[in-house]
Amino acid sequence: MQLITFRKPVDLHVHFRDGAVLEAVVPHTTRQFERAIVMPNLTPPVTTAALAAAYRERIMAAVPAGADFTPLMTCYLTDTTCAKDLIAGHRDGIFAAAKLYPAHATTNSVHGVTSVERLDPVLAAMAEAGMPLLIHGELVHHDVDIFDREARFIDSVLAPLLDRHPDLRVVMEHITTRQGAEFARSHGDRLAATITPQHLLYDRNVLFSGGIRPHYYCLPILKRREHQLALRAAATSGLSNYFLGTDTAPHLRGLKENACGCAGVFSAPVAIEAYLKVFDEEGALDRFEAFASLNGPAFYGFAPSSKQVTYERRNWQCPAVIAAGDEEIVPLFGGETVHWALQGQA
Ligand code: NCD
Ligand code: ZN
Repeated sequence: MQLITFRKPVDLHVHFRDGAVLEAVVPHTTRQFERAIVMPNLTPPVTTAALAAAYRERIMAAVPAGADFTPLMTCYLTDTTCAKDLIAGHRDGIFAAAKLYPAHATTNSVHGVTSVERLDPVLAAMAEAGMPLLIHGELVHHDVDIFDREARFIDSVLAPLLDRHPDLRVVMEHITTRQGAEFARSHGDRLAATITPQHLLYDRNVLFSGGIRPHYYCLPILKRREHQLALRAAATSGLSNYFLGTDTAPHLRGLKENACGCAGVFSAPVAIEAYLKVFDEEGALDRFEAFASLNGPAFYGFAPSSKQVTYERRNWQCPAVIAAGDEEIVPLFGGETVHWALQGQA
């Protein structure tokens, strides 16, 4: 197959940041995606509908002229989230979903939730309103090994949460393990998972190939090959429980190439190309549209795109760095050959 045509994709997990980085990265997402679920982990975090509405305006101001793009906003849950405001924000069309970061699990999660049980009244209100809960699923106790955080979270936090809230719709964000892939399809259509390109492309060895490689460091961290293979099988299964969420997470180069480097892979410039590589290798290009353009919208309850995009098999060189104001960001595939290219849309 030299050409592949599918409905325009939706990215169900992006970090746009703010200021000069926002301006630099938004066009990379709008080139390939019609909508995106935007993460709220700014400093300070997006915790109210008013902050989300203002952030949405700043995003729209960075969308290139002529691009048709809708950012879908999320609320950053804290120990003090007010259920009434949250549900009003959802009803008013500002919040598409709410994001649960366990405190200290990842970038800008210091204001995250310290006790999920105490959030139960908020979660009950979300279930009643039909508002999806998006979860960064890692248990971050000091006695839990970093490679076990996801599996431990599923057993000790997520499974009980789903039992306590049988009507709550939940997305396990950026799953990284066999356990995550198996669990995501265990609760029918009320539970789903996003999968990033890097967790499909690599296992944890790439972090240490010939030296330490900060641009592959993200959270949840890359896992063993066995887990990578389980994720590849899940993404290419066509099952509606799995959909595209890049977790594109730009950090300035100096903050990644650092004695204490930030977690996050900036994949937006090559996102669809990266996923196509995986689906091609797995002989599953016929299932790509379900993963990239249909399953996510079905879960969130909006229509898939009415536009069609075509990608062609053609080699091109990904730039080593992308400019962001006076600084630069290293993208996924930076300096490498990419094997698919956007040909056009109709
Ligand atoms: C994300 C970021 O930088 O905001 N980083 C990451 O490694 N994925 C946060 C997140 O999604 O965990
Ligand atoms: Zn993320």
